[in-house]
Amino acid sequence: MTPAQATAASSGLEGIEAGSTTICNVGQGQLLYRGYEIHDLADNATFEQVAHLLLVGHKPSADELKRFKSELVSLRSVPDWIIDIVRRIAPNSHPMDTLRTGVSLLSHVDAHIASNSPEHNLAKAKRLLAAIPTIIGAGQRAIDGKPIVAPDPALDHPANLLYMMTGNRPSELFARTMDVSLILYAEHEFNASTFTCRTIAGTLSDMHSAVVGGIGALKGPLHGGANEAAMDMLKEVGALDNVRPFMDNAFATKRKIMGFGHRVYKNGDHRAPILRSWGLKLTKERPEFKKWFDIGDAVQKIMLDEKHIHPNVDFPCGMTYFTMGIPVPQYTPIFVASRITGWCAHIMEQHENNRLIRPLSTYVGPERREWNG
Ligand code: SDX
Repeated sequence: MTPAQATAASSGLEGIEAGSTTICNVGQGQLLYRGYEIHDLADNATFEQVAHLLLVGHKPSADELKRFKSELVSLRSVPDWIIDIVRRIAPNSHPMDTLRTGVSLLSHVDAHIASNSPEHNLAKAKRLLAAIPTIIGAGQRAIDGKPIVAPDPALDHPANLLYMMTGNRPSELFARTMDVSLILYAEHEFNASTFTCRTIAGTLSDMHSAVVGGIGALKGPLHGGANEAAMDMLKEVGALDNVRPFMDNAFATKRKIMGFGHRVYKNGDHRAPILRSWGLKLTKERPEFKKWFDIGDAVQKIMLDEKHIHPNVDFPCGMTYFTMGIPVPQYTPIFVASRITGWCAHIMEQHENNRLIRPLSTYVGPERREWNG
């Protein structure tokens, strides 16, 4: 076994460059989406502009953006029979499982399901981007035992997502906070769920199959599921004076502190302070939620001082979405509503210059032996 194989075999491909991409660069010093830096995007772009950048490949002109937004609005509706199934399964399912099934059902009504052409893949990506919030909203309304909220064509993508989940049109601050969170979550090169999508696309399977695989990968608490787990953990801590005993017990029992650490970032996740700043803005309108940021800051100080481990984007996400009143189990589905743009961009890139993804393994099982020996 070569040193590289030993490394790959033992640590989840840590440090292994498994391919190249023009879509994103995750670096210690910067995070770039097709060359645009994440602070620049969070300050000056909208999620719909970033979605166009990732899916179509360039920053949209004013006219291109107008057409893109109008097209997404026209694609938001989902067939009634799919909504009926979503409403039936949602009350007894985790929203990520409902969403996984919902995307699978959408494949049965997509005319281009069997085509991986650039044109058909882009059309499918737009349909998925537009329809996923509708599925998330229908599922949440079923959980709440309330009637479906139809998409509002007057609302931008992030505001419409919140509206379909809650039935209330969000304030400008809530809508912009959701907008920024979707920008931050949109793309992150070869993370576990995106690499899953590329591996599935690499067999020349279709976009919907790859996205269903991506949802399965993102659900895990070591990956996208961490935003829910981080908020659940803060609720378990419950109060500022319980942080120290909680952390002492966590360290003693080797419990992972959810929302902290990252396979690539070793000096901090560029996205985390951006999202935390927006979450704190929300507490100006909802001061009763500031306590969660105080608890979070105390946890973060201990993790930094004693473990030298930084928070990732999922940590401030939990507190921010909680302050917005979003049910915790919807945090990772909202991550999907954003990352669908990165996933589909990578699926298209893989299909456009494909080679089957098939790494080696190191056999450490029994030596050859006879069955009838
Ligand atoms: C996302 O890859 C991406 O880009 C993902 C993502 C994206 O946008 O797609 O950024 C989104 O998934 C962010 C990560 C969300 N996950 C979590 O917050 C879950 C908690 N984090 C950990 O499980 C962990 O940090 C990982 C999984 C994120 C990274 O793990 P690694 O690279 O495999 O590191 P490791 O588990 O080997 O940890 C190295 C050391 C260990 O200590 P020792 O056993 O060597 O003594 O650091 C410790 C770990 O115990 N450690 C932690 C910790 N993270 C690492 N200890 C306590 N709490 C943590 N969160």
